[in-house]
Amino acid sequence: METTNKDFIIFQNVTFSYFDDDTDTAADNGSQVDETAASDTHMPRKRKNAVENVFFSVGSGEFVCIIGNNGSGKSTLAKLMNGLLVPGKGTVISAGFDTKNDTDIWEVRRLVGIVFQNPDNQIIATSVEDDVAFGLENIGVPRDEMIRRVDEALAVCGISDLRQSEPHLLSGGQKQRVSIAGIIAMKPACIVFDESTAMLDPKGRQSVMDIIKKLNKEEHITVVLITHHMDEIVDADNVIVMDKGRIVKEGSPADIFSDKKLISELSLELPPAAGVFESIENYDFGMTVLSPEQGVEALMNKFNWNFGG
Ligand SMILES: Nc1ncnc2c1ncn2[C@@H]1O[C@H](COP(=O)(O)OP(=O)(O)O)[C@@H](O)[C@H]1O
Ligand SMILES: [Mg+2]
Repeated sequence: METTNKDFIIFQNVTFSYFDDDTDTAADNGSQVDETAASDTHMPRKRKNAVENVFFSVGSGEFVCIIGNNGSGKSTLAKLMNGLLVPGKGTVISAGFDTKNDTDIWEVRRLVGIVFQNPDNQIIATSVEDDVAFGLENIGVPRDEMIRRVDEALAVCGISDLRQSEPHLLSGGQKQRVSIAGIIAMKPACIVFDESTAMLDPKGRQSVMDIIKKLNKEEHITVVLITHHMDEIVDADNVIVMDKGRIVKEGSPADIFSDKKLISELSLELPPAAGVFESIENYDFGMTVLSPEQGVEALMNKFNWNFGG
């Protein structure tokens, strides 16, 4: 891809900690020890770093993936990106704003949307179109423009025919597309998908991945995709690998999947096509195969196959 200024999201030496004794308090900002909360024991509450000394940046229009085992800090990074969490140490610049700056926080959250894992927790209204309009109503967008933006968002997400439907009757993949449409209507510059396909069946997962790729390629929305599905990351511009709150590797999908030591240490899976080609040990294909398309290319090169005529 062409060079971009990698300055849409910038993490500079970011550390974030949660209270160690309370896994439900996500909203504290990690910046101090709270002496009062555990006053009955006269002990300051302990904090545990979820993300530690993290540096990275995302360029406008990029498709960036974050992978890593459960508990490695991926969701914490996602929430730091749009100011749902604020770093205890270091700085997060998102869409040009320092997320520590309260005055710009709503603009940061509009410009950087997050789609979470469970679609049921993200649906608010009793019809699809009301759900998609919800954010616009909150910021007082005039009725005409609201209708236009909802129409557009439904069309982009391929769910125009579902506009009158009751969200709870939809499939998981359809619900996630409703969540995405609600974000699109707000005209974001970036969307972070935090394991948004994890609860979907293969068909739903494919339909959501198709939308995500279209948003990036055609609508030029910057995408940060957090996933356990390795076939979803083979087209990424950049892949960030997290382990125990730290970035342990960053690079192209080929860089990541050719690092056998890293793959085995973190027990990461290979994309299905890469696994197949890995097992064909007697041939040097002269290229890294991560997708079925690349597999076809490798075979055609190797054996001078030519299906095109
Ligand atoms: N709300 C919370 N309160 C306390 N600890 C948390 C909270 N959320 C996450 N953690 C801890 O922070 C670390 C990173 O979690 P998380 O960012 O959710 O990782 P991932 O998304 O990679 O699974 C884990 O050790 C997790 O237990
Ligand atoms: Mg997570």
